[in-house]
This record gives sequence, structure tokens and C-alpha cells, in this order.
Amino acid sequence: MSSLANNYNRRKISFKKGKGSFLYSSKGVRYLDFVQGIAVNSLGHSNPYLNKALSYQSKRVWHVSNAFEIPEGEKLAKRLSKNTFADYVIFQNSGAEATEVAIKVARKFFYSKKKPHKNRILCIKNSFHGRTLAAIHASGSKKMIEGFGPKIPGFDHFIFGNHKSLKKSITKKTAAIMVEPILGEGGIKLIPKWCLKGLRKLCDQKKILLILDEVQCGIGRSGKFFAFEHSGIKPDIVPIAKGIGGGFPLGAVLMSKKVAIGMTPGTHGSTFGGNPLAMKIGNAVLDKIMNKNFLKNVQKISKYFLNELNKIQAEYPKIIKEVRGVGLLIGLQLQKDQTNFIKKLEQNKLLTIRAAENVIRILPPLNVKKSEIDMSIKIIKQVCKNYQSI
Ligand SMILES: Cc1ncc(COP(=O)(O)O)c(C=O)c1O
Repeated sequence: MSSLANNYNRRKISFKKGKGSFLYSSKGVRYLDFVQGIAVNSLGHSNPYLNKALSYQSKRVWHVSNAFEIPEGEKLAKRLSKNTFADYVIFQNSGAEATEVAIKVARKFFYSKKKPHKNRILCIKNSFHGRTLAAIHASGSKKMIEGFGPKIPGFDHFIFGNHKSLKKSITKKTAAIMVEPILGEGGIKLIPKWCLKGLRKLCDQKKILLILDEVQCGIGRSGKFFAFEHSGIKPDIVPIAKGIGGGFPLGAVLMSKKVAIGMTPGTHGSTFGGNPLAMKIGNAVLDKIMNKNFLKNVQKISKYFLNELNKIQAEYPKIIKEVRGVGLLIGLQLQKDQTNFIKKLEQNKLLTIRAAENVIRILPPLNVKKSEIDMSIKIIKQVCKNYQSI
């Protein structure tokens, strides 16, 4: 009997080794891993460049307190701000922490502006921003908060795609709107470019802040460094995690100079956030992702993959309702519950993962090879063919 608490519904499979797009089970079976730790291993398993960075830093200094200067962190923050909308960065260890800090930054901004009543955060109903107490209340999901009372105040919700509901929910107490540009757990649902532009405009009109949660869709996953870049807007605060660590626990909050005014010494801290080991790896991930041709390749292979998936959808419309996504953040929405289909893919040695709305999430590493995409296409086609006759 396991001594691990029962809070995960784990598949009966474990792995002894990973290399690039592949995982090798403890029974020696090779799987094409298009989960990659749920959009975490941006450069695949056991990437030699990341291994080298990890090994280099592990022999020097793993951890020092944020009471001291950390040059690798200075470097990573400088690179993140130089190449994005941001002026400042706070490092964390995970996505939920990053979204919580994003909320803290927004609230402290208005507090510093002598408007402490402006402290409510407006989010999409049934969205996903993590599993800490504040994050589950931000998500507004009844299922997620059940049993974890008392309810944490300070969050309002609007219905995805419902502009009336959005406008009605903004009050004098609203500090910020927080949304994912592409809802990952929510079923790879894109907020259209014109809607993101509209959101920016609305926030400016109402003098509130725009927080874009790029924990899942950021760091190249959408084919651009940030998913919001597709719409040409600039947010005020952006929590990130997952892909930036390439498999090492690392999160961060990026913010503009304007909103950073409240984050003075003592207002936030983290023992592990931004330690030298994490910073070295974050920099190594950026070395690859910020390389000029890297994102062009993500876009190119994404176009090919989406095209092939759409062909399968056209052939099997009774099984696949829709192909969703951008870059390598891809979803197959099935007509019915996806559990069995995911199982069949796994039996055919392709690992994928579920999302809301009967969606199967497909998340290859960003440096996936065309031959590996072809391998996955063949498996998906085969499963569709067999599925038809069930
Ligand atoms: C959009 C988004 N925000 C926040 C989180 C929480 O991240 P973590 O699990 O690292 O706390 C996730 C995790 O899936 C996410 O997809």
C-alpha cells in the first residue's frame, strides 16, 4: 500500500528514463511523451544542454538565501525584462505561487496609490490558476473549493466569452482582471486576439490592471515567447512557471515598472524562489528558446501538426469534434468523454492528457522532431480507425 496521500488519480505506469520526446517505462516500454509533465519539459527529457547547466551549477552553489545577491537571477530577470513588456521580475517555485504573487502585486499597487478598496480580482468562472487557497478561489470552481472553507473573499467571476457578464462584474473595487490568453486546463480555449485587445482597452478605460496568466501557454508554447504577443497587447503583470524551468521547479512574476511600486523590501519573499540552481537552468532554457530560429521552428512544426490533425478530424468527425490550439499547445476535442481514447493512445505508446470539455491535450516538447509528429499522427489515426468499430 502506498504511503502517498490519495490526492492524485495516477495512471499505473512509471518511468526509469526519459530522452527528448520519449519516456521509457520501468518495464522497458518506450512511449512518445506528448504530455511532457504538462507543458513543463519545454526542451524534452534529459536535454544535454540543461544537464550541463545543472551539473555545472550543482558543483558550485545550489542555494543561498535571497538575503544575498544572486547574479544568475539578476541575469535571468534582465533577459526576461529586456525581451518582454516587463521591467521587474520576482522569482518563485511554481505556477500557483506565481499567480498569488501577481494578485499581491496588483493589490499592493492600488494600496500604494491610496486606493486600498480596489482589491478585488476578476477572473473567468471555472478557470484554472493553481491549487493554493487563493488560486482555487480565483478559479471560481465549486468543485475545487468544496471542503476548503471558509471562502476566501476578493474574487469575482465572469462567464467566458460573455461580454455583458464581464462588464457587469467590474466594480469600483476591482483591481485587476486575470485571465489565461489560452485556457489550458479549461480545454485549450483561445481568447481571440480582438477580445484580448478589447480587454486591454477596457482595463485602461476603467483604470484597472490586466494580469495574463501564462503559466501554461507562455515561454514559447504558443509559437511566440508569450501567447499574448499574438494580439500585440501589453499586460501589466504576467505569472509564468512550467516551461521556464524545463523540468526544474521555477516560477516567476513579470511586471511593469508602474505596477511594481508597491513591492518594496519585506513585502514578499520566498526561501527557495530564485535560487542559483533554478536560475542557472532558467537561463539555459532561455539560451535555447530565445535563439532566433527556435520559435520559427515551433511555428513551422505546429502548422504541419495542426494540418495533419485537421485531416484526421475531417476523416473522423464522429469521433473528433474539433482541433484546437496554437503552437504546440494543442487540443483534440472529442464528441464524447475522452478517457477511453487517451487509454487507447497510451496502449499504442502515445502519452497525452485530458483537459475540460472532452479535450485531449497534446503537448510535445518545443524541439520535437517532424518524425516524432508523424509517429503520433500514425497512432492517432490508428486509434480513430479502431475506435470507429467499437
Ligand atoms: C494557467 C495556470 N496557472 C497556474 C497553474 C498552477 O501551476 P502549478 O501547478 O505549478 O502551481 C497552472 C497549472 O497547471 C496553470 O495551467
